[in-house]
Amino acid sequence: MKNLKNKNIVLIGFMGVGKGTIARALIQKTKRMGLDTDDVIESMENRKIKTIFEQEGESYFRECEKKTAKWLEKSVQNTIISTGGGFFKVSNLDKIGTIIYLQSSFDGIIKRLKEHENAELKFAKRPLLSDEEKAKALFHERTALYEKKADVIIDVENRSVKEIVKEII
Ligand code: S3P
Repeated sequence: MKNLKNKNIVLIGFMGVGKGTIARALIQKTKRMGLDTDDVIESMENRKIKTIFEQEGESYFRECEKKTAKWLEKSVQNTIISTGGGFFKVSNLDKIGTIIYLQSSFDGIIKRLKEHENAELKFAKRPLLSDEEKAKALFHERTALYEKKADVIIDVENRSVKEIVKEII
């Protein structure tokens, strides 16, 4: 049985599934603190994720994620944590908190992003979404892995934020 002393809630799932949106709604509802691993990395590096990928490459970014994961495990509690889509691969994920996997089909995710008022920006800031075919392959490669890491799986496709938050709580 998992040690529940650490009350962080960690949202994992594919790019664009709505981790940030659900995290913000959860923060409002539970009055807990919140943070996003990509934001932590951008502050730490003082540059955007896209720039880190361009200037340093993906493996450097993954090292930043590992550092962030160590810090979260050691220093963060009672917080709603949204993560980058690949963050779930850090080795200490289960020590950070309760892992909630937000699940949707690939088409559902693309539809959600395209319907957003800032759709272009949503794609532009995500280097791994620039090629839809490659992104789809990555999605299929990761699906079973997300499931394996999850304590709880929440289906988010075609559901309101309110409904999803209620289920998580
Ligand atoms: C990534 C997802 C992104 C960001 C980076 C890599 C991934 O976060 O961390 O571009 O590997 O899936 P979002 O899931 O918030 O888009």
